[in-house]
Amino acid sequence: MVKDVSIDRNNLIQPIFITEKTEKPIPIKSMPNIFRFSPELAVNEAKELFSLGIQTIALFPDTPKNKRSENAKESYNENGLIQQTIKRIKDALPNMTIMADVALDPYTTHGHDGLLGKKGEVLNDQTIDVLTLQAISLAYSGADIIAPSDMMDGRIGIIRKALETNNFNNKIILSYCVKYASSFYAPFREGVNSASTLKNKDKKTYQMDFRNTQEAIIEAELDISEGADVLMVKPGLPYLDVINQLSQKFNHPIAAYHTSGEYSMQKKAIDLGFVSHETIEEVLVAFRRSGAKIVVSYFSKEFVEKN
Ligand code: PBG
Repeated sequence: MVKDVSIDRNNLIQPIFITEKTEKPIPIKSMPNIFRFSPELAVNEAKELFSLGIQTIALFPDTPKNKRSENAKESYNENGLIQQTIKRIKDALPNMTIMADVALDPYTTHGHDGLLGKKGEVLNDQTIDVLTLQAISLAYSGADIIAPSDMMDGRIGIIRKALETNNFNNKIILSYCVKYASSFYAPFREGVNSASTLKNKDKKTYQMDFRNTQEAIIEAELDISEGADVLMVKPGLPYLDVINQLSQKFNHPIAAYHTSGEYSMQKKAIDLGFVSHETIEEVLVAFRRSGAKIVVSYFSKEFVEKN
Protein backbone atom coordinates (compact mmCIF):
# COMPACT_ATOMS: atom_id res chain seq x y z
CA MET A 1 0.00 0.00 0.00
CA VAL A 2 2.79 2.41 0.76
CA LYS A 3 5.37 1.42 -1.86
CA ASP A 4 6.63 4.28 -4.02
CA VAL A 5 6.66 2.54 -7.40
CA SER A 6 5.93 -0.79 -9.01
CA ILE A 7 6.24 -2.36 -12.42
CA ASP A 8 3.16 -3.53 -14.25
CA ARG A 9 2.39 -5.20 -17.59
CA ASN A 10 1.23 -1.82 -18.87
CA ASN A 11 4.67 -0.33 -18.46
CA LEU A 12 6.44 -2.99 -20.49
CA ILE A 13 7.35 -3.34 -24.16
CA GLN A 14 8.67 -6.64 -25.52
CA PRO A 15 11.05 -6.45 -28.51
CA ILE A 16 10.62 -9.13 -31.19
CA PHE A 17 13.11 -10.03 -33.93
CA ILE A 18 11.68 -10.91 -37.34
CA THR A 19 13.34 -13.03 -40.01
CA GLU A 20 12.15 -13.99 -43.47
CA LYS A 21 11.31 -17.67 -43.46
CA THR A 22 11.59 -20.26 -40.77
CA GLU A 23 9.54 -23.20 -39.57
CA LYS A 24 10.72 -22.78 -36.00
CA PRO A 25 11.89 -19.71 -34.07
CA ILE A 26 15.65 -19.29 -34.53
CA PRO A 27 17.65 -18.78 -31.33
CA ILE A 28 20.03 -15.82 -31.07
CA LYS A 29 23.23 -17.24 -29.60
CA SER A 30 24.22 -14.25 -27.50
CA MET A 31 20.65 -13.77 -26.17
CA PRO A 32 19.48 -16.82 -24.21
CA ASN A 33 15.77 -17.54 -24.74
CA ILE A 34 15.31 -14.82 -27.39
CA PHE A 35 14.43 -15.90 -30.94
CA ARG A 36 13.88 -14.65 -34.46
CA PHE A 37 10.35 -15.28 -35.72
CA SER A 38 8.95 -15.43 -39.23
CA PRO A 39 6.06 -12.99 -39.79
CA GLU A 40 3.67 -15.91 -39.36
CA LEU A 41 5.25 -17.13 -36.12
CA ALA A 42 5.40 -13.55 -34.86
CA VAL A 43 1.61 -13.46 -34.91
CA ASN A 44 1.48 -16.43 -32.51
CA GLU A 45 4.09 -14.85 -30.30
CA ALA A 46 2.14 -11.58 -30.27
CA LYS A 47 -1.04 -13.45 -29.33
CA GLU A 48 0.74 -15.13 -26.46
CA LEU A 49 2.13 -11.83 -25.22
CA PHE A 50 -1.24 -10.15 -25.51
CA SER A 51 -2.89 -12.91 -23.50
CA LEU A 52 -0.23 -12.40 -20.84
CA GLY A 53 -1.21 -8.74 -20.71
CA ILE A 54 1.67 -7.23 -22.68
CA GLN A 55 0.02 -4.80 -25.04
CA THR A 56 3.00 -3.25 -26.78
CA ILE A 57 5.71 -4.88 -28.86
CA ALA A 58 8.69 -3.46 -30.76
CA LEU A 59 9.71 -5.09 -34.03
CA PHE A 60 13.23 -5.42 -35.47
CA PRO A 61 14.13 -7.06 -38.78
CA ASP A 62 16.84 -9.48 -39.74
CA THR A 63 16.67 -8.31 -43.36
CA PRO A 64 17.76 -10.99 -45.86
CA LYS A 65 21.32 -10.33 -47.11
CA ASN A 66 20.29 -9.89 -50.73
CA LYS A 67 17.87 -7.10 -49.75
CA ARG A 68 20.48 -5.00 -47.99
CA SER A 69 21.95 -2.20 -50.05
CA GLU A 70 23.98 1.02 -49.93
CA ASN A 71 20.81 3.12 -50.10
CA ALA A 72 18.70 0.96 -47.75
CA LYS A 73 15.71 1.07 -50.06
CA GLU A 74 14.25 -2.09 -48.54
CA SER A 75 13.54 -0.01 -45.41
CA TYR A 76 10.52 1.56 -47.12
CA ASN A 77 9.32 -1.43 -49.13
CA GLU A 78 5.59 -1.61 -48.42
CA ASN A 79 5.84 -5.41 -48.48
CA GLY A 80 9.06 -5.51 -46.48
CA LEU A 81 9.51 -7.90 -43.59
CA ILE A 82 8.42 -5.45 -40.90
CA GLN A 83 5.61 -3.87 -42.92
CA GLN A 84 4.20 -7.35 -43.64
CA THR A 85 4.51 -8.41 -40.02
CA ILE A 86 2.77 -5.29 -38.75
CA LYS A 87 -0.17 -5.93 -41.08
CA ARG A 88 -0.47 -9.57 -40.02
CA ILE A 89 -0.32 -8.79 -36.32
CA LYS A 90 -2.80 -5.92 -36.65
CA ASP A 91 -5.21 -8.19 -38.54
CA ALA A 92 -5.04 -10.80 -35.81
CA LEU A 93 -4.81 -8.43 -32.84
CA PRO A 94 -6.17 -4.97 -33.62
CA ASN A 95 -5.56 -3.82 -30.06
CA MET A 96 -1.91 -4.76 -29.91
CA THR A 97 0.19 -1.58 -29.96
CA ILE A 98 3.09 -1.87 -32.36
CA MET A 99 6.26 0.15 -32.17
CA ALA A 100 8.40 0.20 -35.30
CA ASP A 101 12.04 1.20 -35.44
CA VAL A 102 13.14 3.92 -37.84
CA ALA A 103 16.83 3.47 -38.69
CA LEU A 104 18.75 1.98 -41.58
CA ASP A 105 21.24 -0.37 -39.93
CA PRO A 106 19.36 -3.63 -40.67
CA TYR A 107 19.00 -2.51 -44.31
CA THR A 108 22.44 -1.21 -45.27
CA THR A 109 25.35 -3.29 -46.53
CA HIS A 110 27.68 -1.36 -44.17
CA GLY A 111 25.59 -1.65 -40.98
CA HIS A 112 25.35 2.08 -40.27
CA ASP A 113 22.05 3.73 -39.32
CA GLY A 114 22.47 6.23 -42.15
CA LEU A 115 23.70 6.63 -45.72
CA LEU A 116 27.43 7.06 -46.27
CA GLY A 117 29.34 9.71 -48.19
CA LYS A 118 32.49 9.20 -50.24
CA LYS A 119 34.77 9.23 -47.23
CA GLY A 120 32.59 6.82 -45.29
CA GLU A 121 30.98 9.61 -43.26
CA VAL A 122 27.30 9.36 -42.32
CA LEU A 123 25.25 11.86 -44.31
CA ASN A 124 22.76 13.40 -41.89
CA ASP A 125 20.30 15.14 -44.20
CA GLN A 126 20.24 12.58 -47.02
CA THR A 127 19.62 9.93 -44.39
CA ILE A 128 16.59 11.82 -43.06
CA ASP A 129 14.99 11.64 -46.53
CA VAL A 130 15.13 7.84 -46.39
CA LEU A 131 14.07 7.70 -42.73
CA THR A 132 11.01 9.75 -43.63
CA LEU A 133 10.02 7.31 -46.38
CA GLN A 134 10.53 4.49 -43.90
CA ALA A 135 8.44 6.18 -41.21
CA ILE A 136 5.57 6.79 -43.64
CA SER A 137 5.63 3.22 -44.92
CA LEU A 138 5.55 1.93 -41.32
CA ALA A 139 2.62 4.22 -40.57
CA TYR A 140 0.76 2.92 -43.64
CA SER A 141 1.30 -0.67 -42.51
CA GLY A 142 -0.39 0.17 -39.22
CA ALA A 143 2.44 0.91 -36.76
CA ASP A 144 1.13 2.93 -33.81
CA ILE A 145 4.45 4.14 -32.45
CA ILE A 146 7.09 5.42 -34.83
CA ALA A 147 10.44 5.12 -33.11
CA PRO A 148 13.47 6.76 -34.73
CA SER A 149 16.58 5.13 -33.25
CA ASP A 150 19.05 6.49 -35.81
CA MET A 151 20.24 9.64 -33.96
CA MET A 152 20.37 11.92 -37.03
CA ASP A 153 19.91 15.59 -36.10
CA GLY A 154 16.56 17.13 -36.98
CA ARG A 155 14.74 13.98 -38.00
CA ILE A 156 11.91 14.20 -35.46
CA GLY A 157 10.58 17.48 -36.85
CA ILE A 158 10.77 16.31 -40.45
CA ILE A 159 9.14 12.94 -39.72
CA ARG A 160 6.38 14.63 -37.68
CA LYS A 161 5.65 16.97 -40.55
CA ALA A 162 5.60 14.15 -43.10
CA LEU A 163 3.21 12.14 -40.89
CA GLU A 164 0.86 15.11 -40.66
CA THR A 165 1.03 15.70 -44.42
CA ASN A 166 0.04 12.08 -44.96
CA ASN A 167 -2.88 12.42 -42.53
CA PHE A 168 -1.29 10.36 -39.80
CA ASN A 169 -2.29 12.75 -37.05
CA ASN A 170 -2.55 10.17 -34.32
CA LYS A 171 0.76 8.38 -34.53
CA ILE A 172 3.03 8.52 -31.53
CA ILE A 173 6.65 9.45 -32.04
CA LEU A 174 8.86 7.82 -29.48
CA SER A 175 12.27 9.29 -30.03
CA TYR A 176 15.43 7.44 -29.14
CA CYS A 177 16.47 10.81 -27.95
CA VAL A 178 19.38 10.07 -25.68
CA LYS A 179 21.16 7.14 -27.25
CA TYR A 180 24.73 6.45 -26.31
CA ALA A 181 27.35 4.77 -28.50
CA SER A 182 27.35 1.67 -26.36
CA SER A 183 28.98 -1.73 -26.31
CA PHE A 184 25.81 -3.13 -24.73
CA TYR A 185 24.18 -3.37 -28.17
CA ALA A 186 26.32 -6.29 -29.35
CA PRO A 187 23.78 -9.12 -28.90
CA PHE A 188 21.10 -7.05 -30.68
CA ARG A 189 23.47 -6.67 -33.61
CA GLU A 190 23.68 -10.45 -33.77
CA GLY A 191 19.87 -10.52 -33.72
CA VAL A 192 19.46 -8.26 -36.77
CA ASN A 193 22.70 -9.48 -38.33
CA SER A 194 24.26 -6.05 -38.45
CA ALA A 195 27.37 -7.07 -36.50
CA SER A 196 28.65 -8.74 -39.66
CA THR A 197 27.93 -5.71 -41.85
CA LEU A 198 29.16 -3.10 -39.34
CA LYS A 199 32.30 -5.20 -38.66
CA ASN A 200 34.59 -3.35 -36.26
CA LYS A 201 33.35 0.15 -37.07
CA ASP A 202 31.51 2.18 -34.44
CA LYS A 203 28.66 4.71 -34.38
CA LYS A 204 30.42 7.40 -32.38
CA THR A 205 29.83 10.20 -34.89
CA TYR A 206 26.05 10.08 -34.37
CA GLN A 207 25.42 8.25 -31.10
CA MET A 208 26.39 9.99 -27.86
CA ASP A 209 29.57 9.81 -25.80
CA PHE A 210 28.75 7.94 -22.59
CA ARG A 211 30.67 10.52 -20.60
CA ASN A 212 28.07 13.19 -21.38
CA THR A 213 24.93 14.19 -19.52
CA GLN A 214 24.65 17.86 -20.50
CA GLU A 215 24.21 16.76 -24.09
CA ALA A 216 21.29 14.56 -23.03
CA ILE A 217 19.40 17.67 -21.95
CA ILE A 218 20.08 19.37 -25.29
CA GLU A 219 18.92 16.28 -27.22
CA ALA A 220 15.74 16.15 -25.14
CA GLU A 221 14.98 19.84 -25.63
CA LEU A 222 15.46 19.53 -29.39
CA ASP A 223 13.25 16.45 -29.75
CA ILE A 224 10.49 17.99 -27.63
CA SER A 225 10.56 21.13 -29.73
CA GLU A 226 10.39 19.04 -32.91
CA GLY A 227 7.31 17.14 -31.76
CA ALA A 228 8.35 13.94 -29.98
CA ASP A 229 5.72 12.43 -27.67
CA VAL A 230 7.97 10.12 -25.66
CA LEU A 231 11.71 10.39 -24.97
CA MET A 232 13.83 7.29 -24.71
CA VAL A 233 17.13 6.84 -22.90
CA LYS A 234 19.33 3.96 -23.99
CA PRO A 235 21.03 1.86 -22.64
CA GLY A 236 19.12 1.54 -19.38
CA LEU A 237 20.71 0.44 -16.14
CA PRO A 238 24.08 2.20 -16.49
CA TYR A 239 22.18 5.42 -17.29
CA LEU A 240 19.60 5.64 -14.51
CA ASP A 241 21.07 9.02 -13.57
CA VAL A 242 20.24 10.33 -17.04
CA ILE A 243 16.70 8.94 -16.90
CA ASN A 244 16.27 10.58 -13.53
CA GLN A 245 17.54 13.96 -14.73
CA LEU A 246 15.25 13.96 -17.74
CA SER A 247 12.22 12.87 -15.76
CA GLN A 248 12.81 15.66 -13.23
CA LYS A 249 13.35 18.28 -15.87
CA PHE A 250 10.72 17.46 -18.49
CA ASN A 251 7.06 16.54 -18.34
CA HIS A 252 7.19 14.26 -21.36
CA PRO A 253 7.02 10.55 -20.54
CA ILE A 254 10.43 8.92 -20.43
CA ALA A 255 11.09 5.41 -21.72
CA ALA A 256 14.12 3.31 -20.84
CA TYR A 257 15.67 0.72 -23.14
CA HIS A 258 16.98 -2.19 -21.12
CA THR A 259 19.31 -3.29 -23.90
CA SER A 260 20.36 -6.65 -25.27
CA GLY A 261 23.75 -6.67 -23.53
CA GLU A 262 22.19 -5.88 -20.17
CA TYR A 263 19.64 -8.64 -20.75
CA SER A 264 22.20 -11.24 -21.75
CA MET A 265 24.49 -10.59 -18.77
CA GLN A 266 21.66 -10.97 -16.31
CA LYS A 267 19.88 -13.81 -18.09
CA LYS A 268 23.06 -15.87 -18.27
CA ALA A 269 23.72 -15.34 -14.56
CA ILE A 270 20.14 -16.41 -13.79
CA ASP A 271 20.47 -19.49 -16.00
CA LEU A 272 23.71 -20.44 -14.23
CA GLY A 273 22.04 -20.01 -10.85
CA PHE A 274 24.43 -17.25 -9.77
CA VAL A 275 21.47 -14.97 -9.03
CA SER A 276 17.73 -15.72 -8.93
CA HIS A 277 15.05 -14.55 -11.34
CA GLU A 278 13.90 -12.14 -8.62
CA THR A 279 16.65 -9.85 -9.91
CA ILE A 280 14.42 -9.19 -12.92
CA GLU A 281 11.78 -7.34 -10.93
CA GLU A 282 14.47 -5.56 -8.97
CA VAL A 283 15.97 -4.16 -12.16
CA LEU A 284 12.64 -3.33 -13.79
CA VAL A 285 11.52 -1.49 -10.67
CA ALA A 286 14.81 0.44 -10.65
CA PHE A 287 13.81 1.94 -13.99
CA ARG A 288 10.49 3.03 -12.52
CA ARG A 289 12.18 4.46 -9.44
CA SER A 290 14.49 6.50 -11.63
CA GLY A 291 11.46 8.06 -13.32
CA ALA A 292 10.85 5.99 -16.47
CA LYS A 293 7.20 5.36 -17.27
CA ILE A 294 7.93 2.81 -19.98
CA VAL A 295 10.52 0.04 -20.03
CA VAL A 296 11.53 -1.78 -23.20
CA SER A 297 12.97 -5.07 -22.00
CA TYR A 298 13.69 -8.53 -23.37
CA PHE A 299 12.67 -9.70 -19.89
CA SER A 300 9.09 -8.41 -20.28
CA LYS A 301 7.56 -11.76 -21.17
CA GLU A 302 9.50 -13.74 -18.58
CA PHE A 303 8.68 -11.20 -15.88
CA VAL A 304 4.98 -11.30 -16.61
CA GLU A 305 4.98 -15.10 -16.79
CA LYS A 306 6.58 -15.40 -13.38
CA ASN A 307 4.71 -12.66 -11.54
C1 PBG B 1 19.30 0.31 -34.35
C2 PBG B 1 19.05 -0.10 -32.97
C3 PBG B 1 19.98 -0.65 -32.06
C4 PBG B 1 19.26 -1.03 -30.94
C5 PBG B 1 17.93 -0.66 -31.15
N1 PBG B 1 17.82 -0.08 -32.41
C6 PBG B 1 21.43 -0.96 -32.21
C7 PBG B 1 22.39 0.06 -32.58
O1 PBG B 1 22.16 1.27 -32.47
O2 PBG B 1 23.45 -0.36 -33.02
C8 PBG B 1 19.87 -1.70 -29.73
C9 PBG B 1 18.97 -2.53 -28.93
C10 PBG B 1 19.61 -3.45 -27.96
O3 PBG B 1 20.83 -3.52 -27.74
O4 PBG B 1 18.83 -4.19 -27.36
N2 PBG B 1 19.45 1.61 -34.66
